[in-house]
Amino acid sequence: MTPISLSDTDPAELAVDAIVVGLHAADGDGGRPLLAPGAESVAAAFEGKLAETLALLGATGSPGEVTKLATLGTVSAPVIAAVGLGPVPSDGGVESPGWVTTETLRRAAASAVRSLAGAGKVALALPAPDGDGGASALRAIAEGALLGTYRFAGYKTKPQPGRRNPVKAVVVHVADAGDKAAKAEAKRAAVVVAAVARARDWINTAPNDLRPPSFAAEVAAAAAGAGLEVEVLDEKALKKGGFGGILAVGMGSEALPRFVKITYAPKGATKKVALIGKGITFDTGGYAVKPAQGMWEMKSDMSGAAAVASTMIALTALKPKVAVTAYLPMAENMISGTAYRPGDVITMYGGKRVEVLNTDAEGRMILADAIVRAGEDEPDYLFETSTLTGGQVIALGKRISGLMGDPELCERVRAAGDRVGEPAWPMPLPDDVRKGMDSDVADISQVNASMDRAGHMLQGGAFLREFVTEGLPWAHIDIAGPSYHSGEPTGYWSKGGTGVPLRTLLELIDDIAANG
Ligand code: BES
Ligand code: MN
Ligand code: ZN
Repeated sequence: MTPISLSDTDPAELAVDAIVVGLHAADGDGGRPLLAPGAESVAAAFEGKLAETLALLGATGSPGEVTKLATLGTVSAPVIAAVGLGPVPSDGGVESPGWVTTETLRRAAASAVRSLAGAGKVALALPAPDGDGGASALRAIAEGALLGTYRFAGYKTKPQPGRRNPVKAVVVHVADAGDKAAKAEAKRAAVVVAAVARARDWINTAPNDLRPPSFAAEVAAAAAGAGLEVEVLDEKALKKGGFGGILAVGMGSEALPRFVKITYAPKGATKKVALIGKGITFDTGGYAVKPAQGMWEMKSDMSGAAAVASTMIALTALKPKVAVTAYLPMAENMISGTAYRPGDVITMYGGKRVEVLNTDAEGRMILADAIVRAGEDEPDYLFETSTLTGGQVIALGKRISGLMGDPELCERVRAAGDRVGEPAWPMPLPDDVRKGMDSDVADISQVNASMDRAGHMLQGGAFLREFVTEGLPWAHIDIAGPSYHSGEPTGYWSKGGTGVPLRTLLELIDDIAANG
């Protein structure tokens, strides 16, 4: 992990390779862009000509834009990187009018740090108000800067000419580097980003290298190494335990299914949370085989499990007073003589019988078992996250996760996601959608028998609801789109796994620690 430190040295005098300052877009009268708070001393060293020079270099201050400038001795750092923050906000910022949002800061810090790849030490002097808003601004800047150094190691056998290494060290400029709250924010950011990086690494790993047994072993080793209690059920234990859904999907592969349970039980906790993550290490669709185009992205079908497992490890460093147990069903959805088929009736964990109509709806099969198992431990809240449906991507796109479940809990998830820059939006679970999944022969069909794709994100939620213990508040977070970024790097998103909704889960656990 890239080290992060705080400094209260004047930004103009910081001994670093590059100093990052913020640049607001011109506010309409054809004027030049405006340097953001934090850049004062650097601007002064340029005798008031910095904004003008940046404008001559083409800088406009639009979000994500990075303009670099050689300082030739005016300030200590040899390079200035001015990162666009958009117009000066009139409201809704970090604390009060004039301050940009934490998400703007998080993205800007990441864009600047990524564009400075090749540099050693980079300092950021971005705008942060005094008071409470300063802490959240600092958290966002630190998280963004560290996420901007993330890169998947990959599998290339030769070094790539011209490929610059990520920035080696990050310094964040603050008013008082000795301030306890500021230090805590920097430390928290380092823990959170290490967790996101671990989840991204798992997601980006080639699917022949990460199959249920090896994924389970890696997760178990990481969790046990962090001091957590871990239990792994192999295929024999799954059979003995009656985990019909996990077995139905998982037995089609030579790499047999697993179920990992991880427990974080701090002293003095009064609330208990269950976290469930979908761990399909590869989803071919099974006999309802997927088209070849883009199928490779189904290596990311374990993003939910990766995010939850990494969340658990982060908890050991953040130490919230909430008991959290993770339940991670892992399977590979393949085609073979032992694979499940349409028409099969599966007896799930807990005894409900499901008629399989589409082997590509495998996520809900393994999740249903996990949901019933989690319910037995009587948690106060249950959060489940999965790359469940293409319908989520159609309805909400690649940025916004779909939320289904208990309306109040969904609202808490939405609000937490909003605070950390992982937007999610509540969706209904209408009775007619559930009715459409009535089975002729079993308790429920896995999907609507007409194979009607209308509202099929909701079918996923309606199915899962059947397995939630009566009265237990639950939320299902469909991350099919937001879990994986197929485009070029942007903001703090690199190509590949994003780690969503890990930061939301940590925020939720903090929220539960504070408010019950
Ligand atoms: N893993 C997929 C969902 C998915 C699609 C994730 C696109 C990420 C990007 C899931 O297992 C699946 O195949 N869902 C089906 C459900 C259908 C058969 C009811 C789908 O979305 O088509
Ligand atoms: Mn599928
Ligand atoms: Zn899937």
